[in-house]
Amino acid sequence: MAHDNLSFEPEGAPEEMGRLRFMAQATVALGGIVGLGLAIPFATALWPKSELLNANKGWSDITPDEFNSLKASIDKPVKIHFTKKNLQDGYLVSDQDYYVWGIHMNPDEEQQFRAQRPDLFSGGGQVDFPVVTMGFTMFSSVCPHLQCKFAWDDGLKAFLCPCHGSQFSKIGTHMKKPDGSYIGPAPRGLDPIPFREQSGVAQVEWVKYFANVPYRLIVSYS
Ligand code: FES
Repeated sequence: MAHDNLSFEPEGAPEEMGRLRFMAQATVALGGIVGLGLAIPFATALWPKSELLNANKGWSDITPDEFNSLKASIDKPVKIHFTKKNLQDGYLVSDQDYYVWGIHMNPDEEQQFRAQRPDLFSGGGQVDFPVVTMGFTMFSSVCPHLQCKFAWDDGLKAFLCPCHGSQFSKIGTHMKKPDGSYIGPAPRGLDPIPFREQSGVAQVEWVKYFANVPYRLIVSYS
């Protein structure tokens, strides 16, 4: 009979099942490829973009009185307050009060600062803005360990963090005990904040760094 040469398998026969399984797997694989193709741009779209990181980036004026105090201060840091205005589409949406610690250095001190803080001036871990401008440096008021606010201690002649006891010199070096171990758990020295004088007005740019790591990574500007 002619049909002896035709390949015919009833539904459910092993070879038919194999074909169906192959087609199902191919469909799943194809779906996976298409899904991946869609997922990558989707994930990329969700990844924080520089616009997000840079939201609220901007300069804030510091008060002339406090800047004058900093100019006159040669032996200890000065607390510098400012109000940061957050704008959206040109409209003020919020403002927030911050402070930084200002240091005034003569040329010799600046030289020492550069030599004693290689984490800021060399070694690849430095920040991408000038750390010293016109003999002034501004330090973030946030401890690089777990972000407590530290303060200058006149008795110690050092910055002291009240949370876990880290101590920092006037130039922000993480201080050590006589046995060479660090005083407190801070993973790095104090963090610098951008500073400039623009048309006679002194300004700072608030920067927030990633906490508790030895390197500096800016995580936000608010
Ligand atoms: S937060 Fe400053 S030492 Fe822990």
